[in-house]
Amino acid sequence: MTLQQQLSETTAYLRQQGFGAAKAGIVLGTGLGELISKIEVHKSIPYGQIPHFPESTVESHKGHLIFGYIGKTAVIAMQGRFHYYEGYNMQQITFPIRIMKALGVEKLLLSNAAGGMNPAFKKGDLVLLNDHINLQPENPLRGLNSPDFGPRFPDMSRPYDLELGEKLQAAAGHTMHKGVYVAVTGPNLETRAEYRFLRMIGGDVVGMSTVPEVIVANQVGLPCACVSVVTDECDPDNLVPVSLAEILAVAGKADKVLSGIFAEVIAGL
Ligand code: HPA
Repeated sequence: MTLQQQLSETTAYLRQQGFGAAKAGIVLGTGLGELISKIEVHKSIPYGQIPHFPESTVESHKGHLIFGYIGKTAVIAMQGRFHYYEGYNMQQITFPIRIMKALGVEKLLLSNAAGGMNPAFKKGDLVLLNDHINLQPENPLRGLNSPDFGPRFPDMSRPYDLELGEKLQAAAGHTMHKGVYVAVTGPNLETRAEYRFLRMIGGDVVGMSTVPEVIVANQVGLPCACVSVVTDECDPDNLVPVSLAEILAVAGKADKVLSGIFAEVIAGL
């Protein structure tokens, strides 16, 4: 079955299940689920029940697609996302972004947990992404030669929407940094030499997600913005071991503030 056929089947299924025309799409990162409590949920479907959706394999991600409202804004939210390190291919990881576009989504907000390499960034800080460096293999657009998917060679001079970013910045006050996200595959964290390298090439934060979704959002013409939560400080000269539990704990602490910012911006769309 072609990707086009899968997309139309899944879109039809979700419409039939009560997914209406949503304005905002939301992708929530590791340990960042609090925003769900601010959604008036009309429908929540486990990924495993949605045709052609991969099933989330990470315990820290619950794996539901949600339709509901934040204020008067209709939203589709991914509670948990798909990562390359789980074994999916890039087209599977980004399938939900194409589905959101097909269901009418006009703006996409993403979050993630990331390692902070900029020495000014501390654990728990929020970083609005203003650019990225893709170090993941297997581009999600590879092989999609039909114009149905969008431009063959999408421009990436402004991958993150300025207006949406300004709204997030305004809602956050002065508490949010700006920075460049480097996407790696993981699932291991980086060595000291790798953090040094990633900082040297221009990265402020590093993580294992987001960039494939942002590439597809740009191809389909979906303005997007992303906020990273700094969950560990990646100073190569003073690197301390870090566990997933610690990353989740730091993300959990920042979650409330981030969810408030997202909810305020989304309600105003
Ligand atoms: N590296 C890569 N991914 C991450 C990190 C990190 O240090 N922290 C949270 N996600």
